[in-house]
Amino acid sequence: MPNYGDLQNEIYLAGLSGVVPSLPMSFAELERRAELAMAPGTWSYVAGGAGDEHTQRRNRTAFDHWGLVPRMLRARTERDLSVDLFGIALPTPVFLSPIGVIGICTQDGHGDLATARAAAATGVPMVASTLTEDPMEEVAVEYGETPGFFQLYCPTDPEVAASLVSRAERSGHRGIVLTLDTWVTGWRPRDLATSNFPQLRGHCLANYFSDPVFRSRLASTPEDDPGSAILAWAMMFGKPLAWDDLAWLRSLTDLPLVLKGICHPDDARRAVDAGADGVFVSTHGGRQANGGLAAIDCLPEVAAAVPDVPVLFDSGVRSGSDVVKALALGATAVGIGRPYAYAAALAGTHGIVHVLRTILAEADLLMAVDGYPTLADLGPEAIRRT
Ligand SMILES: Cc1cc2nc3c(=O)[nH]c(=O)nc-3n(C[C@H](O)[C@H](O)[C@H](O)COP(=O)(O)O)c2cc1C
Repeated sequence: MPNYGDLQNEIYLAGLSGVVPSLPMSFAELERRAELAMAPGTWSYVAGGAGDEHTQRRNRTAFDHWGLVPRMLRARTERDLSVDLFGIALPTPVFLSPIGVIGICTQDGHGDLATARAAAATGVPMVASTLTEDPMEEVAVEYGETPGFFQLYCPTDPEVAASLVSRAERSGHRGIVLTLDTWVTGWRPRDLATSNFPQLRGHCLANYFSDPVFRSRLASTPEDDPGSAILAWAMMFGKPLAWDDLAWLRSLTDLPLVLKGICHPDDARRAVDAGADGVFVSTHGGRQANGGLAAIDCLPEVAAAVPDVPVLFDSGVRSGSDVVKALALGATAVGIGRPYAYAAALAGTHGIVHVLRTILAEADLLMAVDGYPTLADLGPEAIRRT
């Protein structure tokens, strides 16, 4: 059985014939090259965050105060990174977090399709955003055998919300990720300084413009009058959700429902009591609230509060060691965000596959070296706050 870590032998052996990797091997280099490859507005939208970006930085630096405890004489030549998520067997505990502008990150402007193809190639599921350049049905076709999930930004119009969820079901998505922290956009100085909000310029609204219920709310079609359609979208984008809304949202689907943005253990318990099948610890990559608490530091308490449901995690994951730390702190599955947007800008599907393979290789080799050959070995005793 091959291990994900075998990638390093592949690279070293290719090096004997003078071949060195054309794509970056570190996040710092990936970020540097992505800035050169992306249109300036797209770059600042993806790289930027809320306020002075303190939370965004904390999401990263907080990983440094967690350390894995090496355990010896537990070497196993085969590692097992597989995980069960809502009864779905996945080869790895990694997934692609929803990125609403991934569509415009690739050079061809079809980044959602590129991401779905990377999911198909790697078995790493994509959580497709509500905000895509290509409609979800066309994205879903590209998942191949890999399960896909749909992320919902709940519109104020309940029938549009119901329509989006039902389309996600019909196009074969295996779960709904409801994002809670973005009913209003956080204060983002980088985007404000350039008055740049991609959706208001008509980007990434394909799921709305292709939606029969959304279209029924317009006097003219989005093709005839895009300006009015964009305005209609802006008016109905984010419903200010309250706990009372959950019963209705739950009633929209029998698919697993995951609530994204949960950072407090009480919210996690309440979410599960209200019928959520999983919770998703995330600070939205520091793009929404610049409150200063790192997502990884919220994870242990949330995971302890809801031991019987899957806990998804993202925000600040840049490497395989970040993935392993999050798993040890209680995550069932770990989401990759900005790294794949940068990789998409450099090399589309190929770039995203590269980033996923490098993250998985590092995670696998870290588990090998530190004596945690399976995910079941990675419990709280594997990690310490340093
Ligand atoms: C450019 C960009 C767009 C995003 N769009 C969405 C989205 O449409 N829906 C959503 O739930 N989260 C969205 N997120 C948040 C990601 O799902 C994820 O929580 C975040 O990227 C994690 O932080 P990190 O990328 O710094 O690791 C977006 C993030 C970025 C960077």
